[in-house]
Amino acid sequence: ARPIILDVDTGVDDALAIAYAVRSPELDLLGLTTTFGNITVKEAARNSLIVLDKLGSDAPVYEGAAQPLVRVKTEYPRHIHGADGLGGASWTEPSRKPAPGHAADFMIEQVRRRPYQITLVCVGPLTNLATAVRKDPGIVPLVDRVVIMGGAVRAPGNVTPYAEANIFSDPEAADLVFSAGLPLTVVGLDVTLKTLLPRSEVREWRRTAGELGDFFADMTEFYIDFYEADYPGIGGCALHDPLAIGVAIDSRFVATEELSVGVDTEGEKLGRTYEREGEPNARVCLGVESERFLKHFLSRVL
Ligand code: BDR
Ligand code: CA
Repeated sequence: ARPIILDVDTGVDDALAIAYAVRSPELDLLGLTTTFGNITVKEAARNSLIVLDKLGSDAPVYEGAAQPLVRVKTEYPRHIHGADGLGGASWTEPSRKPAPGHAADFMIEQVRRRPYQITLVCVGPLTNLATAVRKDPGIVPLVDRVVIMGGAVRAPGNVTPYAEANIFSDPEAADLVFSAGLPLTVVGLDVTLKTLLPRSEVREWRRTAGELGDFFADMTEFYIDFYEADYPGIGGCALHDPLAIGVAIDSRFVATEELSVGVDTEGEKLGRTYEREGEPNARVCLGVESERFLKHFLSRVL
């Protein structure tokens, strides 16, 4: 199995990505690293541990960045992921605590221990990865692959007309990651907004997957309510973070182009990921086999 580290800001779709990763035998989940984003970093670690408890996984969870590299974040999108980040699904305090050490140090240590083997899947703001690369640039050539959920290269943004949430939350970190020379695959809104989970499938979880099904259905229905308010007629929610896991499992779920992508770190277009002239720095997903992916995701997640 392919060793991965999954960097999350657990959130509803992050929780679904965690379940998909835990349940996929192609992947060996070395650990979760957590960041602020949908919620605070403390809540991200707590939520990740809760989800792992529910799934019966003992993968370690490392806490990472509480704030962006240079900015100060004080507000979190609680209307999207719920006051607790888990859409109000019922949970009890996790049985474990986060593992000692910083998320970025865990990334560095694991990449150095298994050169050319590790896939980093980052589905929140890119602060932890940027911190790792800044601290130890020598890891760059040792990473097998980096798959990020973030950006909107040809599609419009979701927090502003230009910017996608993960990039917008720490544009300087994103800029550093895009400039670092990492083997980067970008799973952005170009493909994730074409990858929807219909409400009817979520209802099925209640019928077929018992208590765990109710837990995931409660949080996902909250998320779908937001999507239906924001994108009338959409009929479901985008599987942003799970699609990054899908690509880590099987890159044929997507069609990519090698592009040179820049990140705006100032001005009205702050957080935009845009195509420019020059040497490619990323494999950008522009097409997706959404039906095949959805089937695969549903066959694994619960
Ligand atoms: C991304 O932002 C977060 O709210 C989601 O978890 C996902 O990672 C989508 O723009
Ligand atoms: Ca996320």
